[in-house]
Amino acid sequence: MNCDLLLTNIKGLMQVREATIQKVAGSAMAQLPVLSNAFLCISNGIISSFGGMDKLPSTLSAKNNIDCSGRFVFPSFVDSHTHLVFAASREEEFVMKIKGATYQDIAAAGGGILNSARKLQLLSEDELLARSLLRAWEVIHSGTGAIEIKSGYGLTLKDELKMLRVAKRIAKETPLTVKTTFLGAHAVPAGITKEAYIETILQEMIPAVAEEKLADYIDVFCEQGFFTPYETEKIVERGKAFGMKPRLHANQLYNSGGVQVGVKTGALSVDHLENMGEAEIEALMNSEVMPTALPGAAFFLNLPFPPARKMINAGLPLAIASDYNPGSAPSGNMPLMLSLACVKMKLTPEEAINAATLNTAYALELSKSHGSITESKEANVFITKPMPSYAFMPYSFGSHLIEQVILKGRLVSA
Ligand code: NIG
Ligand code: FE
Repeated sequence: MNCDLLLTNIKGLMQVREATIQKVAGSAMAQLPVLSNAFLCISNGIISSFGGMDKLPSTLSAKNNIDCSGRFVFPSFVDSHTHLVFAASREEEFVMKIKGATYQDIAAAGGGILNSARKLQLLSEDELLARSLLRAWEVIHSGTGAIEIKSGYGLTLKDELKMLRVAKRIAKETPLTVKTTFLGAHAVPAGITKEAYIETILQEMIPAVAEEKLADYIDVFCEQGFFTPYETEKIVERGKAFGMKPRLHANQLYNSGGVQVGVKTGALSVDHLENMGEAEIEALMNSEVMPTALPGAAFFLNLPFPPARKMINAGLPLAIASDYNPGSAPSGNMPLMLSLACVKMKLTPEEAINAATLNTAYALELSKSHGSITESKEANVFITKPMPSYAFMPYSFGSHLIEQVILKGRLVSA
């Protein structure tokens, strides 16, 4: 047997699954298989074998060997909800929030998403790419291997296409696996009625995005003050007709009806979920929709966190993503999302890690290639610094614990 890259003496090989499983839900979320004192063999960019060190074949020859003594090896995080392509940060709004303004106050004053759109419209595609690539490399070094990137800061046909082209170019210029989502219905731009803007989305934007094959998915900000459940359904159905599956922003600021539209339209995921009642949990039961918490956004906007414990106890699955964006979640750091999930939503480290790997891979239709250490999946992993236990990762919030990243079988330079 040959290995291009052999990792040995791994203290804990995380999330080992013999066969591909789609997702974990309810009490199964607490089960996280970890192999102690393990090896991992990578060939041709895929995981070719793994096992206990006592099973390491003596005939195995490796081109490159990394001794992982004292270190854990994780499958890369899959971040299933981001707005990583944007022009500029918005810390001036952060200060307004500190002084008492709400997210809605800022949006009503022409800030928020429209503020980001104005800045993005002024940038060339190359300049937008240069700025976005810095963030892409930042998330790679914090353990993310696959990512979803939304449009939604363009809000004109030309600028929405520009954003999605930049997202596609990130996939070419970095080792990240990228899925793209058209979110033209993020906000209504200035100078046009909502009705007219929705017509533009339906008649011009969706066909143009599909024509250039720029988006895998369609999303709508289904929220009071943005798009109603009725409008959301209309936009989503049009996207579906052009081959884009839905995933939705739902129930962030209000109990907006987004969850029910997501279930009705067969969305892959409904994301945010800070405002959930019994009916919303009920609606998600017996559906294939992945409920997704974005703990960075709940933290940054000081919102009540999604009732994650209640949802898992009811038997639902849960995913965790970063929502990396300049307004409500200016961080794409998945280890920090694990810490927030544990501290603020009372997930155990096992549940949080499942939520940020297997379940987000499901939400991005990447279960075959990502989300676990399984033979013949893509070799997307990271090696930690020496740690006493894997719970040390969410415990040690804000610490940089990742020593080496391997994506598509290759070492990513530090
Ligand atoms: O997911 N909620 C809508 N979109 C983003 C925030 C966008 C912004 O403020 O720029 C979110 O929180
Ligand atoms: Fe978002």
